[in-house]
Amino acid sequence: MRRKQLTKDYRLPILFTKRSNTANSQMNLSSKPMITVNRSKALSGHILIPGDKSISHRAIIFGSLCVGKTTIRGLLESEDVQRTIEAVRQLGAKIDKKNDKWEVLGFGVGGFSSPENVIDCGNSGTTCRLLMGAISTTPISAIFVGDKSLSQRPMDRIIEPLSEIGVKCSAREGSFLPISLEGVSSAMPGEFEAKIDSAQVKSAVLLAGLNSRGTTKYVERTLTRDHTERMLLFFGGKIKTEKTEKGFAHYLQGLQELKPQEITVPSDPSSASFFIAAALMVEGSDITIKNICMNETRIGFLKVINKMGANIEVKNKSTMCGEPIADLRVKFSRLRGVEVPKNLVASMIDEFPILAVLASLAEGKTEMKGIGELKVKESDRIFSMSKGLRECGVDVFFGDDYMTVEGMREVKGGQLINTFNDHRIAMSFICLGQVTQQPIEISESLSIDTSFPGFIEKFNEIGANLSTQTNQ
Ligand code: S3P
Repeated sequence: MRRKQLTKDYRLPILFTKRSNTANSQMNLSSKPMITVNRSKALSGHILIPGDKSISHRAIIFGSLCVGKTTIRGLLESEDVQRTIEAVRQLGAKIDKKNDKWEVLGFGVGGFSSPENVIDCGNSGTTCRLLMGAISTTPISAIFVGDKSLSQRPMDRIIEPLSEIGVKCSAREGSFLPISLEGVSSAMPGEFEAKIDSAQVKSAVLLAGLNSRGTTKYVERTLTRDHTERMLLFFGGKIKTEKTEKGFAHYLQGLQELKPQEITVPSDPSSASFFIAAALMVEGSDITIKNICMNETRIGFLKVINKMGANIEVKNKSTMCGEPIADLRVKFSRLRGVEVPKNLVASMIDEFPILAVLASLAEGKTEMKGIGELKVKESDRIFSMSKGLRECGVDVFFGDDYMTVEGMREVKGGQLINTFNDHRIAMSFICLGQVTQQPIEISESLSIDTSFPGFIEKFNEIGANLSTQTNQ
């Protein structure tokens, strides 16, 4: 397989250089599929899922916004998070791994220095959008670039609110990366109303507000994932959230001092969703997943599959660094199709691909509406999922903001599935292949490293039958 040659300056530490820069590209049908998924026997055992991706990005960013040493245990060591580490290093922080923990020596709120090189966000929208916000109220300049997929994702959602407080961004036509950003000094705070439900936009605005002179107000219709707010409190900062008739209003006082902390990152509920789904589908399965982040803004998927009839026991509830956590015991279950409540969409935005897989084996149809945001993720996930499922023999109807899946007792499979270089599409079809009548082949598996290194090995450890082939 051909990979983009990274120039010296763009190069990441060796551990993280595997992913190609070809997201959304056409599948090369002549290249060998990288994974063959055979039917699984019952999955069983205890699993520890890697750290939450959203919390990991934020732990690095908040650590850099303190003067002193923050330590992070359980950090997700995926490509996306490595992009944030590299970016924040370029902006002046010192970050290293010492034994099992990462240490961040930060520079304090407003302490960013101009990077000597472009900030290459790779495939990571969170790196790009959060950091654009974070640096925007410091008088430095930076150029943000990304891979092919990220360069096709909308950035006007960040550029517009930042330009309201005087930040200058010049983007490629259509408001796409590359973007050159010139931060403002002595920024005045803004008042914003969310146009879309996006935690990345909220976080960008709040991080900008941290170095503004006064109170930033951000109102969102739905409470999107609130890890930024929680982490700010955990680092000794202040933020107030009120429920209003318009939704949720956040008030953040600028120029606060944050205090370095010791953080342990809970396990990622989005990554866990693939193991949960596989255990629900593969007959006889019984698995336990430890320390999953159970934040209300992240568990829409669990609520929906509960309505579908999933047998999941929630055990050992506690908290970890300001986030609720629990262990989940998941057993094989026969599911029924449901209509996904629109008010849960934001809290399960990354779980729709795997929900569509579960829906294909549920009794009756599953309707997902108000999911237009899926079109601007790492791939157009409405299309990527519908295409793959149809090829496997499932009836799927879809449009710009909906998808309906007709469940069936057995799914044929026997196809080479195009992942569109999207990690969640790859992982979703790896789960489906464990129950299809004929094996499924997956076009590539490198994308999985953006969020879940070790995914395939972990599945095989609990009884799956996944084989990886080396691409030519
Ligand atoms: C994220 C927010 C979500 C999610 C993404 C991570 C975050 O994106 O899809 O994987 O960490 O804030 P949006 O803000 O675009 O919904």
